[in-house]
Amino acid sequence: MGPLLEVKGLSKVFTLGSFLSRVRIKAVDEVTFSIQSAEIFTLAGESGCGKTTTARMILGFETPTSGKILFRGEDVEGFRNRRKWFLQVQAVFQNPFETFNPLRRVESYFFETVHNFDLAATPPEAYSLIDEKLKAVGLSLQEISGKYPSEFSGGQLQRASIARALLANPSLLIADEPVSMVDASLRMSIVNLFRKLCDNFGVSVLYITHDLATAYYISDRIGIMFRGNLVEMGPTEKVLGDPKHPYTKLLLNSIPQPDPRMRYRTTIQLLEEQEEYLLEGCKFANRCPEKGKLCSEEMPAETFVDGRMVRCHLYGPDGDNLPERQGIKRR
Ligand SMILES: Nc1ncnc2c1ncn2[C@@H]1O[C@H](COP(=O)(O)OP(=O)(O)O)[C@@H](O)[C@H]1O
Ligand SMILES: [Mg+2]
Repeated sequence: MGPLLEVKGLSKVFTLGSFLSRVRIKAVDEVTFSIQSAEIFTLAGESGCGKTTTARMILGFETPTSGKILFRGEDVEGFRNRRKWFLQVQAVFQNPFETFNPLRRVESYFFETVHNFDLAATPPEAYSLIDEKLKAVGLSLQEISGKYPSEFSGGQLQRASIARALLANPSLLIADEPVSMVDASLRMSIVNLFRKLCDNFGVSVLYITHDLATAYYISDRIGIMFRGNLVEMGPTEKVLGDPKHPYTKLLLNSIPQPDPRMRYRTTIQLLEEQEEYLLEGCKFANRCPEKGKLCSEEMPAETFVDGRMVRCHLYGPDGDNLPERQGIKRR
């Protein structure tokens, strides 16, 4: 069977600044990956590398500048607005308190979804479907009945939003930083839930995170992004257990992250980000401890090293940018 989701050469260009100082950044640059059935694929990277933009294009909230998205081998542009798509692909967002209106009881969202998608023929059927999905995430209809969002903890409310996403039996969940607003002590139990949904119900998950610890724990394969590019991708134990790209190595030694609760990043961070996006060659070159002469000139091509894809001149066809080869003439 082919992959469930294929993203092929997906790009998004944003134009920033005013008329006179306009810059175009490729927030997502020719990104290609696929997700199999019953697989957890993680997109990881520090904030501002294009993860959310990629997810938003898959979900249809953002129009790609170029590239294709295929679902079960079919271009999604053909059936974006059809029920089939809504039933198959569901999203879980970062902040569950934004998913639910504070003035509405949480269970009303469940009944609304069941009604909108015609998921049950009778009220008792609706109750049992909702209860079943809530139980799959460790809650129950009885537990949530009559309660408003403020009466839940962040972790409980995120579980509820996952249960709601499961109502239509989707085959793909897209979860963008689903635990960054959840108490650190509860994060693992929520990411474990994705693993359980994948193993027990065959749901695939596109897990988006800047946190490699949770990614290591639950994902089958991982793609590391840096300024719009996938720089390394492969089985999680290979990429995180024995990283090849200097950026993956750096990320594993933990890059401090801005607090996700801070909506706006500082101007300095954003300027640095923009400058890196505009670099020629490898966007990581300026920060790379293993930078060679080619790095600021040419974007490295995808190469395959030890069971994973890596985009780095260290692993170029001739390996001629390895520091020890610098200055040695090509044969
Ligand atoms: N609607 C937009 N308009 C202009 N720039 C955007 C927009 N959305 C995202 N960007 C920029 O694109 C880059 C990638 O952002 P994003 O996809 O949110 O990254 P991540 O989710 O990895 O933090 C950032 O530099 C961000 O500022
Ligand atoms: Mg994001």
